[in-house]
Amino acid sequence: MADTAKTATLTIGDQSFDLPIYSPTAGPDVIDIRKLYAQAGVFTYDPGFTSTASCDSTITFIDGDEGILTHRGYPIGQLAGKSHYLEVCYLLLYGELPTAAELETFEGTITRHTMLHEQMQYFFRGFRRDAHPMATMVGVVGAMSAFYHDSTDIADPRQREIASHRLIAKMPTIAAWAYKYSIGQPFVYPRNDLDYASNFLHMCFSVPAEPYHVDPILARAMDRIFTLHADHEQNASTSTVRLASSSGANPFACIAAGIACLWGPAHGGANQACLEMLKEIGSVDRIPEYIARAKDKNDPFRLMGFGHRVYKNFDPRATVMKQSADEVLDLLGVEDNPLLQVAKELERIALADEYFAEKKLFPNVDFYSGIILEAMGFPTSMFTPIFALSRTVGWISQWKEQLADPQMKIGRPRQLYQGNTTRDYVDIENR
Ligand code: SDX
Repeated sequence: MADTAKTATLTIGDQSFDLPIYSPTAGPDVIDIRKLYAQAGVFTYDPGFTSTASCDSTITFIDGDEGILTHRGYPIGQLAGKSHYLEVCYLLLYGELPTAAELETFEGTITRHTMLHEQMQYFFRGFRRDAHPMATMVGVVGAMSAFYHDSTDIADPRQREIASHRLIAKMPTIAAWAYKYSIGQPFVYPRNDLDYASNFLHMCFSVPAEPYHVDPILARAMDRIFTLHADHEQNASTSTVRLASSSGANPFACIAAGIACLWGPAHGGANQACLEMLKEIGSVDRIPEYIARAKDKNDPFRLMGFGHRVYKNFDPRATVMKQSADEVLDLLGVEDNPLLQVAKELERIALADEYFAEKKLFPNVDFYSGIILEAMGFPTSMFTPIFALSRTVGWISQWKEQLADPQMKIGRPRQLYQGNTTRDYVDIENR
């Protein structure tokens, strides 16, 4: 924690309370209110946590006004252009870029944890074939705590390490098998001779009836999408993982909670919702109708893939994703993809519109990702599972950081109670 030389003074009636102010290495100062209730008998009030820092962290930093995102200090644009997902995983988990030897060891460890316990296949088979893959992932990841008992003791650093590796390694297998199950095709086992992204494409798209060649262009695009979604400060799903972990729950249960939260259309479910929106718009000439709906207070419609709690400038991930969309669609020979044309025109019109400018609404990470994923052959139902797969390392890194924090306490917010004051029970004959 930084120095506490500065203080804020809160005056309530004729009483004043001094609250320490801490200065971060980047971003706004924070006011420590931990003793406020004991000193002043009042709570702070911040539904949605728009002005609340829930923890210390050294992992990811976002400057929403400047459109900056860094992981351990490295800008996302540099990591997306020069690094690759497993190297970013190492960086998020351990705080520094690995040496060549460290990276080789880490990649070897992850590769050898990609298989699932054979009996876990029965969990998939318990779902209807038309179950959303996110439902399957929540169930199967939670069920991992029933199979991997030797990595559920969060007090044991070695077990925390093994659980971290197992989750990062097995999520592509779980996501791919959820997809295969939904289309009635046999599960494809991971291969140790393929890199992380190629292995995922192989498990999703190969069939036993014929050889499958992983297109290196698609593998690179897949890896970049994983990197762009890896971590993002204290977003809703990461905060869910931290809150679940604060009770001492095992890592598999915590990550299952994170997956469930990510599924919402306001969060990770926006990539699926955005592509469905672009399909509903269908053509450039229908864009004004949807822009008008997005601005209409009486219409619950929102432009999916637009807006962000933190970014009040371009989401730097969306910038990289847009470049990647151009490259991938061009290389796949679908550069005149009508959805991409609608997306680009929608972005152009929205960004020129006073409503979006005044509310500082820009495309976020979900605006272009779905276009790439659909061009790669994924159904929209697989978009959020791919987000969950990518974000597992972020959830795990934040989970590890919280467990190592000596200040960690169980998360237990209070409330502004607006209900009935105490009253006596009324027998039914007297109601
Ligand atoms: C992710 O937190 C993270 O970091 C998340 C994430 C990550 O990596 O973990 O970045 C991933 O979840 C990205 C966001 C994906 N969601 C969407 O694209 C769904 C569409 N966007 C919105 O629902 C909304 O922008 C949120 C949920 C993303 C943010 O909502 P906030 O911060 O609570 O802002 P708000 O709802 O209070 O909106 C502020 C104003 C409102 O107008 P007023 O009531 O002030 O008049 O902007 C309007 C909103 O109506 N607004 C939109 C809009 N988003 C906000 N109007 C039209 N279209 C939109 N998309």
